[in-house]
Amino acid sequence: MEIVIVPDAAAGGELIAAAIADLLIRKPDALLGVATGSTPLPIYEALATKVRETDLDVSRARICQLDEYVGLPKGHPESYRSVVLREVVEPLGLTESSFMGPDGSAEDIAAACLAYDQALAAAGGVDLQLLGIGTDGHIGFNEPCSSLASRTRIKTLTERTRVDNARFFNNLDEVPHHVITQGIGTILEARHLVLLATGEGKADAVALTVEGPVSAVVPASALQLHPHATVVVDEAAASGLKLADYFRATWAAKPSWQSI
Ligand code: PGA
Repeated sequence: MEIVIVPDAAAGGELIAAAIADLLIRKPDALLGVATGSTPLPIYEALATKVRETDLDVSRARICQLDEYVGLPKGHPESYRSVVLREVVEPLGLTESSFMGPDGSAEDIAAACLAYDQALAAAGGVDLQLLGIGTDGHIGFNEPCSSLASRTRIKTLTERTRVDNARFFNNLDEVPHHVITQGIGTILEARHLVLLATGEGKADAVALTVEGPVSAVVPASALQLHPHATVVVDEAAASGLKLADYFRATWAAKPSWQSI
């Protein structure tokens, strides 16, 4: 696992957007797995700026969703499908035809989960998966004690996650209890995992993820099992890391030809 400590969220967004741009130059039709929440917004802003201001061509990029609420009506502004279309797909000048995600309003949720895992595999797998981290250590919506081998399936949100996400709704009662999420086993199949965490509220979860044991109780610690996982953290989110100085020195001494 590579840990990169950046001064602030904007620098994290720039670094990760540059890695996505490099990927799309190497592989113009790459499948990019995106995350929702507040943390990844600087990545999407930096990427959209590159599209506007450079000759980066993202027209063949494909975008896929990490997780989705269950039970919100189709087109609900806070369904993650709507959020990804609004925050990622449209600003990049792409359309829904470049986008895939699980159907959180399906009558048969189990079938929708299976269909999504199959669709990801049929698309050739995810090239780069962006991840946030919950204050409880979740990735996607894999809450504590999710199987490290799990596939896309329905999960029940912890109360902590519902409270964390209530800011996107009118009140806590509106936050769904159930979600579809790519499983941890599904996420680990992506070729490159890039987790961004910013702010002091994520410091404990980051420290457990990076320096704690691999454990289902901290789902993000499964990144330790991946051969190409990058954890980008700002100073506040890095504040619980015992090896922070080592991570800084490693990054500073990294050969310029190596990207994240
Ligand atoms: P946040 O969400 O970026 O809004 O903090 C992260 C997550 O829950 O994965």
